[in-house]
Amino acid sequence: MQFGHFDDNRREYVITDPRTPWPWINYLGNEDFFSLVSNTGGGYSFYKDAKFRRITRYRYNNVPMDSGGKYFYINDGESIWSPGWKPCKTPLDSYECRHGMNYTTIKGVKNGVEAEVLYFVPLKTWAEVQKLTLRNTTSEAKTLKVFSFVEWCLWNAATDMENFQRNFSTGEVEIEDSVIYHKTEYKERRNHYAYYAANVALDGFETDRETFFGLYNGFDEPQTVLEGAPRNSVAHGWSPIASHYIEVTLQPGESKDFVFVLGYVENADDEKWESKNIINKTKAKATIARFDTAEKVDAALAELRAYWDNLLNVFSVKTGEEKLDRMVNIWNQYQCMITFCFSRSASFFESGIGRGMGFRDSNQDLIGFVHQIPERARERIIDIASTQFPDGGCYHQYQPLTKKGNNEIGQGFNDDPMWLILGTTAYIKESGDFSILDEPVPFDNVPGSEVSLFEHLIVSFDHVINNLGPHGLPLIGRADWNDCLNLNCFSNDPNESFQTTENKTEGSKAESLMIAGLFVIYGNDYVELCKKLGKNEEAERAQKHVDAMIEAVKQYGWDGEWFLRAYDYFGNKIGSNENEEGKIFIESNGWCTMAGIGLEEGLVTKALDSVKERLDCEHGIVLNNPAFTKYYIEYGEISSYPPGYKENAGIFCHNNPWIIIGETVQGRGDRAWEYFRKICPSYTEHISDLHKVEPYVYAQMIAGKDAFKPGEAKNSWLTGTAAWNFYAISQYILGIQPTYDGLRIDPCIPADWKEYTVTRQFRGATYEISVKNPNGNMKGVKSVVVDGKAVSGNIIPEMPAGKICRVEVTL
Ligand code: GLC
Ligand code: GLC
Repeated sequence: MQFGHFDDNRREYVITDPRTPWPWINYLGNEDFFSLVSNTGGGYSFYKDAKFRRITRYRYNNVPMDSGGKYFYINDGESIWSPGWKPCKTPLDSYECRHGMNYTTIKGVKNGVEAEVLYFVPLKTWAEVQKLTLRNTTSEAKTLKVFSFVEWCLWNAATDMENFQRNFSTGEVEIEDSVIYHKTEYKERRNHYAYYAANVALDGFETDRETFFGLYNGFDEPQTVLEGAPRNSVAHGWSPIASHYIEVTLQPGESKDFVFVLGYVENADDEKWESKNIINKTKAKATIARFDTAEKVDAALAELRAYWDNLLNVFSVKTGEEKLDRMVNIWNQYQCMITFCFSRSASFFESGIGRGMGFRDSNQDLIGFVHQIPERARERIIDIASTQFPDGGCYHQYQPLTKKGNNEIGQGFNDDPMWLILGTTAYIKESGDFSILDEPVPFDNVPGSEVSLFEHLIVSFDHVINNLGPHGLPLIGRADWNDCLNLNCFSNDPNESFQTTENKTEGSKAESLMIAGLFVIYGNDYVELCKKLGKNEEAERAQKHVDAMIEAVKQYGWDGEWFLRAYDYFGNKIGSNENEEGKIFIESNGWCTMAGIGLEEGLVTKALDSVKERLDCEHGIVLNNPAFTKYYIEYGEISSYPPGYKENAGIFCHNNPWIIIGETVQGRGDRAWEYFRKICPSYTEHISDLHKVEPYVYAQMIAGKDAFKPGEAKNSWLTGTAAWNFYAISQYILGIQPTYDGLRIDPCIPADWKEYTVTRQFRGATYEISVKNPNGNMKGVKSVVVDGKAVSGNIIPEMPAGKICRVEVTL
């Protein structure tokens, strides 16, 4: 069952039924000011950091779901309704929500009046702009009472939800002309305020929540709206809100536009005040003036659209598979931008208060984003590396506002350092900019501790070899990529966090085959980089360690039919046929096959066949099998989940592409493609009722075969799945790989694909690549012809910027 459809020409998903199985959201803004908006107008805004600079309030996991947002209420004399159906839930005569690239429109029709709201954050603007268009489609004049609504958050989204003894006394607002200013705490320690403006003269307003709603009413029946008469309340403490009241009469066929601007301002200390206790509004007024007519708003939207045209033109494919093309050309790349911006902080599953930017997560996000805006990737790499410690270890997260490491999820995840090599080499391969390696980068943000970024890569590499266990395999530390395989935790206290509680790492024998594979791949990358830089001694030194790791994996990491997952604290095997539960895991088999360990000896094929046999199911590849059915104190959180969910045998979509890439290493294009389609949202759109979350973006997890409801997805949007699937499809299936020396073409496709074309911009030149597969092969490039001339090998050398070249590839 579907709740809408794709509109590829406009790059939109069109939702035609407001009762989606879960709120289906979109993101506005892509630099400093951000909003989340659901298909019924729910959501919230923040500046840079969803925890420390929350601008509007939101109630997670509320009854009903999705409570709080940017709402409009219309009192037409007959009914009270909202264009997005919620919060009034008055049945509409028609409804449509269009989620596009960083904008959303929601349109409702009731009693002959059409109300459409456009929401977006214009480029380079610290504000969300809303354009409300009201149209009278009847033959009689209509008089409408229109109310806007936002609820202010008292800045820190965490204390906003708990410290009521203070919060209820601090709220302050100012009202001037048609603008409501929120200035709580501005006079003491803050240098920022927010505002909500309308571009017409007001017939009234409300800024006190209790006055607007009435203490016992919900979002669906504000007292002021029901009565059709605001009291012009001025909030003092309690909960400040902003609601504009406008009376409008529309002649038959007439339509009118109204613009609202929800913005954020920072003022320097000596520019905070206009007069005693009156805030300086200069910057707010300047922004409001940029959007004070519908024409200006439309022009800003056109600019945003053009911006996305440019971004999405960097990589586009035509395969004839509509569902594939729309994912690759539009939605997957869009999701990569969103994960780049937010890491795992703010979605409808991530509350925006718990998690900042992840060291591991943000490095991986780069592989799906770096081609879009390499300069921003560069800055991100420096930010991430600046939180590293001198021994190569890292904070697991940092806070986007301060860029400082935070200890909320602790440190000591021994996979973390290697991801910096991935992020950095991906950036250089895309941009050709080796100068990033010379950038001075501090440790733990301590001024004076700067060394070159290249030296950060050395300590990253060395962190693994300085932390090897009894089998010469990497010690796992707190955990590797799988946060929930907590081998040194031994927690039996429900009040402890698996992530941060004291670990018994002293004397632990817990080793990870996932990190081993990771080390082989990015260790090899590191070797290649050293050679490229002429650092041959370092390359040789590193190569020895990589070779030793390969040997250790073959000797101690092979279980007979697949790769082991780990050794536990005591040195017992995990992910072995000898185990009763959790005999086989996806991560180690993904990484060791991607690394091609034991390819000649047939280990890769065997491991992948075992994955197919034991982990694959209708909805994707589960993480482990058999699922854990009881708590193993020596394994930790993984065994705390019911079977089929999350890291306990859920389909953790992030790691499916590891198997997809593994399949391409040995050339099985059919198999790679089959796995790709299973978790690709545009291919599961028809089961949206089961799947539940948005059909246009990847979810972190789909319930696995052992779950109560296999196929039900959770945690959409902020997941490494976005970057990894884009990486898998673009570089390993379609086979367009940036390298230091140019674009390598190395597809691995289903045998029945006859041809496809890819347009790729790379370091300023445009490559129009057409791949032909006349003989029904899956892998292996026979010839590459560039502008009529055959090249040897499969790397297209870098072309001068501005050049457009035609590339013909035959398999
Ligand atoms: C979440 C985390 C990621 C981790 C994964 C598996 O997606 O953000 O860092 O690797 O879970 O536990
Ligand atoms: C929980 C989640 C896991 C996530 C981790 C991050 O353990 O299950 O997916 O990576 O939290 O804190």
